[in-house]
Amino acid sequence: MFVAKVLFVCAAVVLVSGYPQVFGGPRQLSESEIEEATNRLQSSLTKLAAGEGPTYRISKVLSASTQVVSGSLDKYNVELIDSNDDKKVCNVEIWNRSWLPNGIEVTFDCPNEKKVIKNHSA
Ligand SMILES: *[C@@H]1O[C@H](CO)[C@@H](O)[C@H](O)[C@H]1NC(C)=O
Repeated sequence: MFVAKVLFVCAAVVLVSGYPQVFGGPRQLSESEIEEATNRLQSSLTKLAAGEGPTYRISKVLSASTQVVSGSLDKYNVELIDSNDDKKVCNVEIWNRSWLPNGIEVTFDCPNEKKVIKNHSA
């Protein structure tokens, strides 16, 4: 009986403390985490611009979340500056599966444009 109780408590603790990892829900990032996430976005944009594009610069990251999936998934609501110096607010996702070749997948979802999906190496 005691063992059953201990097991139950352990399971409850795992469930509560492990919630974001186990269920993989998105988590909004704090200000300092947004800074790191912005650096990740910047290095992705730099890689894409050096390759087949698109060419974007970051004007301002409005919000960001991260999620544990198969790999990790960063989602950004970000004001971007395109190659014509036009600003637009887009939803950008970076799916990091660093164990795959070209395992970083970047999706741009900008107003009045088709989604653009690009891959680059980790
Ligand atoms: C992808 O995830 C790996 C493992 O967590 C990490 O080492 C690497 O820096 C990440 N790459 C990018 C571009 O976020």
